[in-house]
Amino acid sequence: PDADLNARIEAVRRELGPSLLILGHHYQQDEVIRFADLRGDSLKLSQLAAASTDCRSIVFCGVHFMAETADILSRDEVAVYLPDMTAGCSMADMADLDSVEAAWADLAEVIDVEDVTPVTYINSTAELKAFCGRHGGIVCTSSNARQVLDWAFARRKRALFFPDQHLGRNTARAMGIPLDQMTVWDPRRELGGNSPKAVEQSRVILWRGHCSVHQMFKPAHVAQFRERDPEVRVLVHPECSMEVVDAADVVGSTEFILKTIEQAPAGSSWAVGTELHLVNRLAAAHPDKKVQFLSPMVCMCSTMYRIDLPHLAWCLENLSRGTPANRVSVPEDVKRWGRESLRRMLELK
Ligand code: 13P
Ligand code: SF4
Repeated sequence: PDADLNARIEAVRRELGPSLLILGHHYQQDEVIRFADLRGDSLKLSQLAAASTDCRSIVFCGVHFMAETADILSRDEVAVYLPDMTAGCSMADMADLDSVEAAWADLAEVIDVEDVTPVTYINSTAELKAFCGRHGGIVCTSSNARQVLDWAFARRKRALFFPDQHLGRNTARAMGIPLDQMTVWDPRRELGGNSPKAVEQSRVILWRGHCSVHQMFKPAHVAQFRERDPEVRVLVHPECSMEVVDAADVVGSTEFILKTIEQAPAGSSWAVGTELHLVNRLAAAHPDKKVQFLSPMVCMCSTMYRIDLPHLAWCLENLSRGTPANRVSVPEDVKRWGRESLRRMLELK
């Protein structure tokens, strides 16, 4: 039963004291996030990992790329653990190093890649962050994508943005870049691929990746809410499609969504398009406001959900027994270059 698991988790936390840091992403289920010493969105969690000074172990209640990022950014003495190694991110899996390197080589046949900054969303493997590090590129999160693209365009005339086409497109559009200066990269040459002309006139080349959770929000859901309640404000994450972002009132990262609801006046009405657990938690925390989930379907991050109490208890007890399991350890060379692209992001003011 959960009470036993809670007690077992508490016991290890007490025993390990400040040498253990539990980090949790906002999408985690309530019973898990309550054990996080610190919680945040992807940007905040990377800053926290980089700033962690006392701990020897970080247990990451999030997904694999977040644990990798924590390993890259934390001190050398810190070991990072993920309670369930199958907690991945389907978006991060949509871009692998071989495909990105092949795209880079193909692009070099059409345009000068010295003019292209590779920008990877933090939702990507450590290898891709290292690719960006090696090629003068940078990492972004949903909180700072615009600032990062500004940085990129101050240096070079084009950006290759991966894996999330929606974050890339929504951000570039908000910066005033027209759609005809963006191309979705298509590696299938046998089916025509991208025309050289389309690539030449593109300032932003987008990877064909998406979030399986946020793609489930549709413009029709926004319309239904507006019909039912003309006062409703629609607040969505930038991983949603351009059509949903266009139909919404406000768009921003997980941390931004949280602050917007916190600061909203009592009695206000919100339809929120992001992961279900966060929206439910916001609704419960703000009973004076009407906070509803934007989709009639269940849009939850099923991989985040794999981090549950049994896995957390198991991971912590292994640590306490001196038989640590599920360590996420990024190879040294990947770490070095991945840190470079993360550092460029974290240094942005
Ligand atoms: P943020 O944490 O940057 O809001 O991103 C959401 C997400 O999809 C995490 O994987
Ligand atoms: Fe990946 Fe989407 Fe889950 Fe975020 S919500 S971890 S982008 S699958």
